[in-house]
Amino acid sequence: METGLSVRHLIGIKDLSVDDIRLILSTAVRFKEQINQPMKRVPSLRDLTIANAFFENSTRTRLSFELAEKRLSADIVNFSSSSSSVSKGETLLDTINNLIAMKVEMIVMRHPYPGSAYFLSKNVNAQIINAGDGTHEHPTQALLDAFSMMDRTKRDVSEMKIAIIGDIMHSRVALSNIFLLKKLGAEVMVCGPATLIPKHIESLGVIVEHSVEKALEWCDVANVLRIQLERQEAGYFPSLREYALAFGINKTRLNKLTKPITIMHPGPINRGVEINSDVADSEHSIILEQVENGVAIRMAVLYLLAGRM
Ligand code: CP
Repeated sequence: METGLSVRHLIGIKDLSVDDIRLILSTAVRFKEQINQPMKRVPSLRDLTIANAFFENSTRTRLSFELAEKRLSADIVNFSSSSSSVSKGETLLDTINNLIAMKVEMIVMRHPYPGSAYFLSKNVNAQIINAGDGTHEHPTQALLDAFSMMDRTKRDVSEMKIAIIGDIMHSRVALSNIFLLKKLGAEVMVCGPATLIPKHIESLGVIVEHSVEKALEWCDVANVLRIQLERQEAGYFPSLREYALAFGINKTRLNKLTKPITIMHPGPINRGVEINSDVADSEHSIILEQVENGVAIRMAVLYLLAGRM
């Protein structure tokens, strides 16, 4: 029998049990069916007020949370730091406490500082959902990634080999994916230039590979990460062109494989750098399915956390 989540906030995958993750994934299956009906909206969160507080840019995560909240009939307010009094020097705590004074009960927050969601959860009287905190975690991205790979392959994550390719060092998506995939029993490999792979990452139970050809041949699913353009200026690799030559996922590389693999990318994509259009737009790519599934996953997270108020 399904019970509720073991957590009151969603700060990171690290805090979730295997039962929590399985419950979110199975609840999202039901919400995906619901939002594919002509009547997409359900009254589940009719009396709940949610603020989406984004202190860093976002397209997919912000719109996906907003749609998920609307599909669940919540009252919502949207807040972005650039158009708020944060630009006049107001602190994070003051800003969030002002939202709570207006009877906001749940805060979805993206913030550039690792640990900011945890800090809020300890210092304000509202439920907190981490929508990405710096280089730390992006839990709903990892949940929607696992959901999407199972949905496409019709296999459980525990039966899969997943290669995460690109900037592992600075990626909250990589860390949340590693925590989630290892908890569910998958085999996980990370691949990229040595400068973009953290030392001792093997202690998380992942394999390290520096040859993208070997990583692609090994895996069932390749999750390709964005190369953040500022990393080149910081000297992590010589040029974007050389990164693309050594690690870029293109049709030539995929055509040499002995079996087809599923290609994922959390977005936003740098076409021609970490992934070419002939792969991103191919039948093996589930990039837009990830975006579609993100709404159902976020509905599941909001719905289950509301049960822990
Ligand atoms: N995947 C992801 O987090 O995208 P956004 O930055 O557009 O939200």
